[in-house]
Amino acid sequence: MNTRVSTGAAPGKVILFGEHAVVYGRPAIAAAIERGLGATAEPARDGPRLDIPRWGRSGLHIRLGERQPGIESVARAFAAALEAAGLRDARLRVTIDAELPPGVGLGSSAAFAIALLRSLGEFRGAPFSTGDLLEAAEHVERVFHGTPSGLDHTVVALGGCLRFQRGREPAFMPVALAEPLPVVVAWTQREGGTRDVVGRLRERHDAQPDLYERLFDAMGDLAEAAVEALGHGDFARLGALFDLNHGYLNAAGVSGLANERMVAIARQHGALGAKLTGAGWGGAVIALAPDHPERIVSALQDAGFSATATRVGATS
Ligand code: PMV
Repeated sequence: MNTRVSTGAAPGKVILFGEHAVVYGRPAIAAAIERGLGATAEPARDGPRLDIPRWGRSGLHIRLGERQPGIESVARAFAAALEAAGLRDARLRVTIDAELPPGVGLGSSAAFAIALLRSLGEFRGAPFSTGDLLEAAEHVERVFHGTPSGLDHTVVALGGCLRFQRGREPAFMPVALAEPLPVVVAWTQREGGTRDVVGRLRERHDAQPDLYERLFDAMGDLAEAAVEALGHGDFARLGALFDLNHGYLNAAGVSGLANERMVAIARQHGALGAKLTGAGWGGAVIALAPDHPERIVSALQDAGFSATATRVGATS
């Protein structure tokens, strides 16, 4: 029996600029965050088993082939990863140590896929190549998101900061940062899933495409301007770009009341700029906070939100 204990890790992510507009072919920028997720695979007496204690009230115990309402997508994603690793019936147990909250737009599902696949690659004695890892992660991500753009799992696998544009060749390009960005990330429950938010915006767009295309053009221009500002470490300009992007996202109808509150609190307590990150309708916000980020974190926590100071875009 294999006695190997194998580990894999992956960071979470934030979308810095261009969520939603990216669906309509405009550029987006995403970056890895310091918080992430670790996977440990070890031999077990019985078939594949997955534990994610920090995502379940009393721990998730997933047994393939058994119906477990509420956690089926995680079980199916686990099965997809085992399949990709050629370990469908292996006797192993995987434990996920998740520092990321699930389902708020911080890349938890992509980090789950990448960390898990990395641990399985090591467990079988043949780590995935980068290309194979990305391909396998796409299969796992599809279980959660249907048709993922690829932005999430690529930035989570490669780390650093990436510019992404659908239909461009290559679709992904690294963005050079003068220094990792000091940010505060805050989050709360979402009022709907990514699919719902994207779908409702699609309806508004299709009813009046000329208006929404102009809005997406404006968001795309911000992302282009941000590539330059990130390269120069121009925080004043990046703060303005965050604020403008948030205003456009609000205009697009994807900002929820919780996003507005978190953004306002961050700005009131010294952020240079703040915006929602990810799909919106609740979920996460990101604030540029080079000075005293702890004040912003405390103010957000006092208002009942989860918040942490971190740096984004560091190359892993
Ligand atoms: O699922 P999230 O919260 O990371 O955000 C998805 C980003 C969107 O641009 C809204 C959708 C997409 O497919 O890019």
